[in-house]
Amino acid sequence: MPIKKPAELNHKVNKLIENRWSPRAFDGKSISKDVLKSLFEAARWAPSCNNSQPWRFIIALKENEDEYNKALSCFNDRNQRWVKNAPVIGFVCAYQFMGEDKKNRTYFYDTGMAMAQLTLQALEYNLYIHQAGGVLLDIVREKYLIPEDVDVVCGFGLGYQGEADILPDELSERELQPRKRNPIDEFVFTSQFNNKFE
Ligand SMILES: Cc1cc2nc3c(=O)[nH]c(=O)nc-3n(C[C@H](O)[C@H](O)[C@H](O)COP(=O)(O)O)c2cc1C
Repeated sequence: MPIKKPAELNHKVNKLIENRWSPRAFDGKSISKDVLKSLFEAARWAPSCNNSQPWRFIIALKENEDEYNKALSCFNDRNQRWVKNAPVIGFVCAYQFMGEDKKNRTYFYDTGMAMAQLTLQALEYNLYIHQAGGVLLDIVREKYLIPEDVDVVCGFGLGYQGEADILPDELSERELQPRKRNPIDEFVFTSQFNNKFE
């Protein structure tokens, strides 16, 4: 049975947030185009500074072997060990400007918002995303002809969950490790920085 790792909550949250986590064990089963489009629709409706919508996604589907191998070769070796099982892999990129010439101070932040929405929408289809900062940025840039005013932010694998025993031992053990978070009072302040909101 695929592993579930719901958040250990101190306060109530929505079920999608509670159940989202980043598995490395993916089943290779393909994802329909309709479902994929629904995930990008969720990203599409993310808020962004001045509605600048700086997010850009590049995806490769396992059924297109050459395309898939091209994308896979852009992940570092450690991440290739698990991302290679995901039926869809890809990269999130971010356009640096607002319009043509004004630098957008929040372009990474906006792009993260879109990815967060996509990630939660995925859960509604029992799909999981594991993001990977460990990508070969220059290689992505070169292979996908990424323009200079666009940053490569992160790679990701997307798919239905598989059994942990498809992973190398080290990773299947990590799959079972508990998820941890800092308590709210370490990051929510009032009055001045570091003054806890309790
Ligand atoms: C921007 C970003 C980069 C990440 N890079 C990697 C990575 O290179 N390799 C990896 O195995 N996991 C990576 N992760 C996954 C995180 O380690 C994971 O989200 C974190 O430990 C919290 O676990 P959870 O998502 O299951 O709650 C990344 C996540 C994010 C958001």
